Amino acid sequence: MRPMSQATLRTDRIELVPLSDEHLEHEIELDADPEVMRYLSGRARTREEVEALHRLRLAAAERAPGLGFWAGLVDGWFVGWWILEPPTRADQGPVEGQAELGYRLLRRYWRQGLASEGARELLRHGFEDLGLTRVFAETMAVNTASRATMNAIGMRYVRTFHADWEEPLPGSDLGEVEYAITRAQWLASR
Ligand SMILES: CC(C)(COP(=O)(O)OP(=O)(O)OC[C@H]1O[C@@H](n2cnc3c(N)ncnc32)[C@H](O)[C@@H]1OP(=O)(O)O)[C@@H](O)C(=O)NCCC(=O)NCCS
Repeated sequence: MRPMSQATLRTDRIELVPLSDEHLEHEIELDADPEVMRYLSGRARTREEVEALHRLRLAAAERAPGLGFWAGLVDGWFVGWWILEPPTRADQGPVEGQAELGYRLLRRYWRQGLASEGARELLRHGFEDLGLTRVFAETMAVNTASRATMNAIGMRYVRTFHADWEEPLPGSDLGEVEYAITRAQWLASR
């Protein structure tokens, strides 16, 4: 038994369940859409690539109590995944008290308020249940949808930085952006 396993969470429309092997085929479908992957890998991923990533995604839940990937289900249908994971780079600040938020939805579910609805619940869970003090998110500066989602849930722009990519994507010259919200800001916004 892990000291604190990942919780199952609920919003009005979404059931957020810890990612497991039963979601693998959906992860493969998600990453096979080049539009979904436009600002991530810039191309569709193969089944083999996603199988390897799936193992890493499951391992994320082992690294920090309560954190990890969640599959989002609406009326029992997989719509995408959300993540809260500890910082992985020194420039992201301390691991203690912090988590990085992320989300990836199947294209047919975009623009229905689902990414922000699930992300709001992860902020609540992170701050209220897990005692986090700061949640941040990163994306390419040109990823308008991701930035709009960060804004919509009360995260604010922190900085632009430049990462050293082996295969830079179109738009990477404009860099990456970080958005964040602290526990105090989240409490004040309620
Ligand atoms: C980013 C993503 C998860 C957003 O999902 P979504 O469910 O469409 O987002 P929501 O419907 O909750 O919208 C949240 C806000 O962003 C805005 N928004 C969403 N997509 C947008 C777009 N393409 N352009 C402008 N604004 C957009 C919405 O209008 C909403 O703002 P509002 O609350 O002020 O009206 C989705 O586009 C996606 O999966 N993209 C591919 C994967 C990806 O890039 N993930 C992020 C990597 S860091």
